[in-house]
Amino acid sequence: MSELLSMLECRYPIIQGPIGHMNSPKLIAAICEAGAFGMLALGFSNPDSTKRLINQVRELTDKPFGANLMILNPASVEILEILADAGVKTVTTSAGSPGKIYGQIHEYGMKGLHVLLSAVQAKKAEDSGVDGLIISGSESGGLRTNNPESSTMVLVPLVADSVNIPIVAAGGIADSRGYRAALALGAHGVQIGTRFIATEESPAPDIWKQAIIDCGDGGTTLLPLGKMKIRSILNPKLKKQMEDPSVDLVKEYDFKDASKAWNSGDFEIFPASAGEVSALIKDVKPAREIIEEMVS
Ligand SMILES: Cc1cc2nc3c(=O)[nH]c(=O)nc-3n(C[C@H](O)[C@H](O)[C@H](O)COP(=O)(O)O)c2cc1C
Repeated sequence: MSELLSMLECRYPIIQGPIGHMNSPKLIAAICEAGAFGMLALGFSNPDSTKRLINQVRELTDKPFGANLMILNPASVEILEILADAGVKTVTTSAGSPGKIYGQIHEYGMKGLHVLLSAVQAKKAEDSGVDGLIISGSESGGLRTNNPESSTMVLVPLVADSVNIPIVAAGGIADSRGYRAALALGAHGVQIGTRFIATEESPAPDIWKQAIIDCGDGGTTLLPLGKMKIRSILNPKLKKQMEDPSVDLVKEYDFKDASKAWNSGDFEIFPASAGEVSALIKDVKPAREIIEEMVS
């Protein structure tokens, strides 16, 4: 068994990517039951909602599952303790310096994979004790930096050549071709975001799932948010704004509105986020079918 699979304790090295504040115990359980690694998205969470979500997942599956923590969240250490008490063995960490939290992760006997959006910090993260890395290429859905960034195709082999811990490729993977390509590039597994939004079990509103299906080649853009950017699906309003040089997009959209927009499907308030890989997604399917096709 690979080092990554023994960390995840599941059959396939496929990890559910966290999607902001969006949590569906039903989707997590479906992913775990199909042999992959379902994860709670606890980046914006608090201790009470963490306990509630853990119990809800446990009612649906007895398979191991994980959780993503945002290191910058002041509640992350308390959340980690709750996860450890509940028997969660592996977490992923995003947004923040890994040195701060990995001592605690290891004290609880847990393992952690740290999310990176570029190759420069990979060696440093390895030296600070992370057990693995999730390498997210520029085509990924979700938040991106303002720095020039590389795509998965370049980033994964770059990092694979520079570290000796398991690495997971994220960004641009939706089917067996992407999965096999990621393994060929030197990844030990994959993390999937956009493809799992467009599943029957996903709690995303239908209008978001449909926007992914309708999104073709060149259908996403990087929406500036000031200190960060977010990969977003171009909609008629956003297209019009981008064509008008007098519009300052940073002033038009506030990331604080994202959860309201993503829960309701009102993408006039804040656009839907998804990866470039949306262009390859043609239908809404059960998570199990996606996983079975991916490893076929
Ligand atoms: C709407 C959306 C929100 C996301 N939110 C987070 C997040 O809160 N934390 C995180 O580490 N990654 C986040 N991601 C990144 C995903 O977990 C995953 O790494 C990424 O979607 C992989 O690329 P793909 O969309 O091409 O599959 C988000 C992605 C999307 C599409």
